[in-house]
Amino acid sequence: MSKKAKLIIDNKDYEFPILGGSVGPDVVDISKLYSSTGNFTFDPGFTSTASCESSITYIDGEKGECFYRGYPMDELANKSSFLEVAYLLWNGELPTKEEWFEYSEAIKTHTMVHEQMKKFFDGFRRGSHPMAILTSVVAALSAFYPDSIDVNDLQQRQISARRMIAKVPTLAAMAYKYSIGQPFIYPDNSLDYTENFLQMVFAVPAEKYKVNKVFAKALDKIFILHADHEQNASTSTVRLAASSGVNPFASISTGFTSLWGPLHGGANEAALNMLLEIGDVKKIPEYIKRAKDKDDPFKLMGFGHRVYKNYDPRAKVMQKTCHEVLEEVGKKDDKILQVAIELEKIALQDEYFVEKKLYPNIDFYSGITLNAMGFPSTMFTALFAVARTAGWIAHWKEMYLDTKNRIGRPRQLYMGEKPRPFTELKDRN
Ligand code: ACO
Repeated sequence: MSKKAKLIIDNKDYEFPILGGSVGPDVVDISKLYSSTGNFTFDPGFTSTASCESSITYIDGEKGECFYRGYPMDELANKSSFLEVAYLLWNGELPTKEEWFEYSEAIKTHTMVHEQMKKFFDGFRRGSHPMAILTSVVAALSAFYPDSIDVNDLQQRQISARRMIAKVPTLAAMAYKYSIGQPFIYPDNSLDYTENFLQMVFAVPAEKYKVNKVFAKALDKIFILHADHEQNASTSTVRLAASSGVNPFASISTGFTSLWGPLHGGANEAALNMLLEIGDVKKIPEYIKRAKDKDDPFKLMGFGHRVYKNYDPRAKVMQKTCHEVLEEVGKKDDKILQVAIELEKIALQDEYFVEKKLYPNIDFYSGITLNAMGFPSTMFTALFAVARTAGWIAHWKEMYLDTKNRIGRPRQLYMGEKPRPFTELKDRN
């Protein structure tokens, strides 16, 4: 028998179906709540609301597990590649050898951006934050590639998705090069996806560039860890924007905007800045005290998560990757790494953090790692965005194929003025 939820309002009974997913908590289907009761639900921050059906990523927050299309994300991080994961997220299955060849070659044919896009960059002030540039240039892709913006055309949808996977790293590298005044570096399709990105960021025309294999492997893993995370703020933003039928480039650009915030993709930059500010293990107790003080807005950046109430599985892989990269650059005893290790140790034993189930999240170690690889902190969120583009486009496609999809339109609990008469300015004091 199908399960039902009973709601009593003013002594009147209402029943709502309970739907079960393949794993995870059941959901009460309240889509007919307003039409049957005249009430809305109130759920600021969507803490108890499933906004859609999805088959892409599953997170078990209590156990600290994450799966992409059913595959453990940490296993993918250790055995797969970012590009293969992007294929998996988009298609739902891992590629056969033949499919892999077709896909990886197709991505290579899209790595360059329209030459005129360079001029677009010139409009920005030197020193602009790479994310400030990216939020605009990604949206501008719709002006450069109008032949793939018909959302109702399956082939155009596929081309625009491949274009984004291929071109976003090029744009991210250009945004960085522009911000530091160096010439843009064209893609090199003899390199793999992540190696190519590293050379576009770090190579200069005056010198030969050799990709550091440890860095390339570490960054590829970091991309996999950031590729998707179900209905987070930026993904939900992309879905909401796309629900109006706007083209994919414009939809994905809203993900960049949402991701930039310090409580979301900007946290890795904030976490590193915090560790640098602490600077010495002796100062940790002072910062722990501040994090616990209700009257102090300070939070331990890189700690806590809306869904994970256990150690973030991405943070575990990230911690190991961090050690590998620091060893490669001869900074195994780095002072900031010591601060991070000690801070984590103290916080994991502290009653406040234990009781609130606040564990390190992926951002806690990613900043130190990226910094050791030579990325400035202003690039951290851009790197996250390169990876998350794979998730955003997969969600965008899923939303289009969902026959239940309607334009997103949340309601509100109105607390403003009741209707009142207008007094013309001439009649006011
Ligand atoms: N340091 C100190 N206290 C914290 C922290 C923290 N990092 N995170 C949460 N808390 C406290 C809150 O003050 C709150 O306390 P209260 O119940 O006494 O009011 C309680 O723990 C619950 O926290 P909320 O902020 O209500 O949890 P929410 O799910 O809304 O927020 C978030 C999650 C935004 C990640 C939060 O933990 C945070 O701000 N962390 C720091 C920023 C960060 O690392 N963000 C990256 C997230 S992962 C990602 O986007 C890739």
